Amino acid sequence: MRISTEMTKAINDQISYEASSANAYIAIGSWCERTGYDGSASFFFEQAAEENGHMLKFLHYLNGVGAEAIIPAIEKPPSSFESLESTFQFGLKGEQTVTKAIYDLVEMTEKEKDRSTYSFLQWFIIEQIEEETLFQTILQKFDLLGKDKLAIYQIDQSLASVRSKVTDKQINRQ
Ligand code: FEO
Repeated sequence: MRISTEMTKAINDQISYEASSANAYIAIGSWCERTGYDGSASFFFEQAAEENGHMLKFLHYLNGVGAEAIIPAIEKPPSSFESLESTFQFGLKGEQTVTKAIYDLVEMTEKEKDRSTYSFLQWFIIEQIEEETLFQTILQKFDLLGKDKLAIYQIDQSLASVRSKVTDKQINRQ
């Protein structure tokens, strides 16, 4: 095994956070779908796929360095939300928690002089900046366009293609 036991545990914890994020976004997507917010449902289902991808990146990394990736049990996410805006607030808060966890991991690599994991984590630092910016930009729309039914309808419709544009950007930097 080319990384420490502590680092293996910390990355397995991160696998669990990413899996929880994926699950939470599926739950939000499902709420959006049954509430009639089709654009947001599509956004959140794609977001869930992104999180699943993050989880797999960590899993492949652990297995690749000769450690064992543990597939976590996941807590049940919330199943209903107050409003469309609150789903994005929930998402932003989750992303901020994940960002902090990534920074904690980076700090650990510095203490352990684990250059391999340090280098592996750089992609996630950029990714988290993009994720937080994305959620903040969407939340700004609620302030700019207002919160009446027509404004929310327009925001929802505008979200149908947001994720695919972001994914194009990510593909370009891979
Ligand atoms: Fe994988 Fe959006 O944190």
